[in-house]
Amino acid sequence: MAVTTGTKLDAQRLRADFSYLEELANGKPVAYLDSAASTQKPRQVLEGMREFYEHSYANVHRGVYQLAERATAGYEGAREKVRAFINAPSVREVIFTRGATEGINLVAYGWGLDNLGPGDVVVVTELEHHSNFVPWQYVAKRTGATFAHIPIDDYGELQLDALDGIARSGNVKVVANNLVSNSLGTVNPVEKLAVWAHEQGAIMVVDAAQAAPHRLVDVQALGCDFLAFSSHKMCGPTGAGALWGRRELLEAMSPFNLGGEMIRSVKLEATSWNELPYKFEAGTPAIAEAYGFGLAIDYVAEVGLEAIEAHEHELAAYALEKLAELPWVTVYGPPADRRAGIVSFNVDGVHPHDVAQVLDWEGVAVRAGHHCCQPLMTRFGIAATTRASFYLYTLREEIDRLVAGVEKAKSALG
Ligand SMILES: Cc1ncc(COP(=O)(O)O)c(C=O)c1O
Repeated sequence: MAVTTGTKLDAQRLRADFSYLEELANGKPVAYLDSAASTQKPRQVLEGMREFYEHSYANVHRGVYQLAERATAGYEGAREKVRAFINAPSVREVIFTRGATEGINLVAYGWGLDNLGPGDVVVVTELEHHSNFVPWQYVAKRTGATFAHIPIDDYGELQLDALDGIARSGNVKVVANNLVSNSLGTVNPVEKLAVWAHEQGAIMVVDAAQAAPHRLVDVQALGCDFLAFSSHKMCGPTGAGALWGRRELLEAMSPFNLGGEMIRSVKLEATSWNELPYKFEAGTPAIAEAYGFGLAIDYVAEVGLEAIEAHEHELAAYALEKLAELPWVTVYGPPADRRAGIVSFNVDGVHPHDVAQVLDWEGVAVRAGHHCCQPLMTRFGIAATTRASFYLYTLREEIDRLVAGVEKAKSALG
């Protein structure tokens, strides 16, 4: 791997690890600016997974033969990597999931259905991804709890002065917030919210899908109770993710999925649950994917989370500066010093999908749409944005190509 020195990473060298980034699109080098949706995968992860499938693959926790023991060691080794990556106190608190969405659903169903009722309040924010919005809205409705949200200001930042009013509206039991917004790149004050949540006697659920791949995440420093993220947004395979939860909460929770592996004993009359984390891992897990997730953690940790954050910050600041020169472009979200490597914008008179289409002709891949944040789009009075998102392999010249493509879209269609 192209290892970096100090806190500065060398994106050009890292790109050699990603085959797709060496290809051409429409005869032009690809500029993959859609890493918030999913990242490209380095050969270290792909080759490691292939090796695992060829030489260490069997079902886990079941066989006594050597191959099964190797598979179990690979799977459980990945769990320890996740634990260390987020500084969780215990490996038993780390549950493998299919991704952030499943992790949040696990908490909403497993904790919410047993602990919420009329008079209770579930609090989300106006800038949540649907994954951290819809499960809570649904479980609040099913249990009779009130569903409240923290509004945002015109910069897309949380209006914390709304908290007092929310506290007066009932027993706040859950606060759910993303650490970094996938639409706007807003970095949210989760530590502050966690303190407030605990003052109310609530749990703090953190969606770290857009944070864990890009900055150091420490569950103990955040002071949260649950935290979910996905492998595929950080150089790992799809179908894998992790949920961390405080042990005492996980111990007290009902299981989410039921079946093999998650049981201690099954009798005709009753079934008892396995110990943590297996109580929440019913059925055959995504074994090689979890292993690949561990390899992805190795990869991003070796590049360095601080270096990744600094690199993306520079790119975001540059993109904001260049887009600000175009008076017909509206950029949404906070200024560069309070945002991660995500830039959402609209071009006057050109639909976001058309902007994305013209950019594609230029070899620049961006996302256009509501980004699974319809309440946020409603707040800004729009249906969609064009979003460029950056990662450790993004180059400054790709921002120049983005801006040139936006100018082309405006002159052709605006
Ligand atoms: C902030 C945020 N939360 C949750 C998710 C859901 O992640 P996944 O689809 O990997 O479960 C995403 C995906 O885009 C996201 O950006």
